[in-house]
Amino acid sequence: MPAPPSLSRHERINRADWEREATSFEERHHRALARHGAMGWGIYHLPERRLRMLGEVAGKDVLELGCGAALWSIALAKARARVVGLDLSPRRLEQARANQRKARTFFPLLEASAEKVPLPDSSFDLIFCDYGAMTFADPYRTVPECARLLRPGGQLTFATWTPLQALCHDRERERLVPRLLRPYFGLHRLGSKGSVEFQLPYGEWVRLFRENGLAVERLEEPRPAPRARSSFLAPEEEPWTRSWPADAIWSVRKERDPPSPSARRRQAKR
Ligand SMILES: C[S@@+](CC[C@H](N)C(=O)[O-])C[C@H]1O[C@@H](n2cnc3c(N)ncnc32)[C@H](O)[C@@H]1O
Repeated sequence: MPAPPSLSRHERINRADWEREATSFEERHHRALARHGAMGWGIYHLPERRLRMLGEVAGKDVLELGCGAALWSIALAKARARVVGLDLSPRRLEQARANQRKARTFFPLLEASAEKVPLPDSSFDLIFCDYGAMTFADPYRTVPECARLLRPGGQLTFATWTPLQALCHDRERERLVPRLLRPYFGLHRLGSKGSVEFQLPYGEWVRLFRENGLAVERLEEPRPAPRARSSFLAPEEEPWTRSWPADAIWSVRKERDPPSPSARRRQAKR
């Protein structure tokens, strides 16, 4: 299916990549992603029932940004959340529809980019993803979009790589190595050909959240259990994650009475 003309270059690259990779991603990771009632965080699928990042979801309006095959969203819909699943890739959304039929659990699935969501302001109480669009879309676009879509007091929670992972990831060999391969300052867009990911220095994430009226509540960098294995890593990469954190799980909350973005920028300059 051709990409909509409105997409930017990195959105087109990533859409094409997920169209190509949809089947093999499912083959490699479905079993792991389905563990813990399909509510697991990060590359080791640490159970939500232990981390409790989301809190009570029953009765909440929830958006999954980059839902893929929508296992997480189906689990939350079963927990009585009112869910919308959004993804850029038509093939991933086909997988989501197939899983909805299997689970007999239905909710809206939207083909769109997380950088420009065609939904009204203040539509959601919770926006979340587990290595979804917050990994593959530009945070300078997605963070303001999430702030717009959240109601006052609403929560944005997402798992993605740590900045440290970005510094130590050899993109040619697709391996984590115990060496710093690129500068920390200026971290932003990573990769260009097959797929594009985004990362920011910690201070820049916090500044971006604050500029958009989002207060940081938690940042988890979980350490995997000694014998845990990840379907996302080669065996020789596992020692890396015993010494350094690969996953960052951020949780931020929209202020109840936030100043306007321009007032906030003026405050930050003082
Ligand atoms: C690693 S998958 C994770 C999804 C989900 N957690 C799962 O278990 O399948 C990343 C997903 O993000 C989607 N994605 C990438 N860029 C996006 C964007 N700009 N907007 C929305 N979705 C995007 C991809 O199509 C893909 O389905």
